[in-house]
Amino acid sequence: MREYRVAVLTVSDKGSRGEREDLSGLAVEEVVSGQGWQVIASEIVPDEAGVIEARLRYFSDELGADLVLTTGGTGLSPRDVTPEATSRVVEREAPGFAEAMRAASLQLTPHAMLSRAVSGIRASTLIINLPGSPRAVRENLEVILPALPHGLEKLCGGEEECATP
Ligand code: MTE
Repeated sequence: MREYRVAVLTVSDKGSRGEREDLSGLAVEEVVSGQGWQVIASEIVPDEAGVIEARLRYFSDELGADLVLTTGGTGLSPRDVTPEATSRVVEREAPGFAEAMRAASLQLTPHAMLSRAVSGIRASTLIINLPGSPRAVRENLEVILPALPHGLEKLCGGEEECATP
């Protein structure tokens, strides 16, 4: 298995203003590092669609991340726009990750159906939305981790073609 290069984007108004500690981003980083993968960037941005889109484009186009994991902003409140921003950035949908997370999470809490998370592909970067609490991050990542290495290998069509820009 390659040492995948992962970027983390925490989407939180309060977190970006320093009013709340960024625990969900840290939870993502811990799980990613635990897999032996590399966290190449981790940022906090407010719930602003334009800002989210710009960072997703940067992680994919400039950093050449294999995987981008966002956390937060996927619910129903008016400020939750992470799925819309992600949908505008991805070129191909890969809905299975979001579907699997919702289905598995429904076994844990009915609130899972409040997640509007999406997942898709931009160039050779897989982008996946996660919910915004550290516990939900762990529960959801646990669901998709078994399929991620195979998916990421397929995505770049073999290791040789996965060079960083
Ligand atoms: N999925 C799991 N496994 N565990 C959870 O606690 N929380 C839900 C849902 N998915 C949750 C979960 C809740 S309460 C919401 S509102 C949505 O994710 C969206 O979360 P977000 O708005 O923080 O992105």
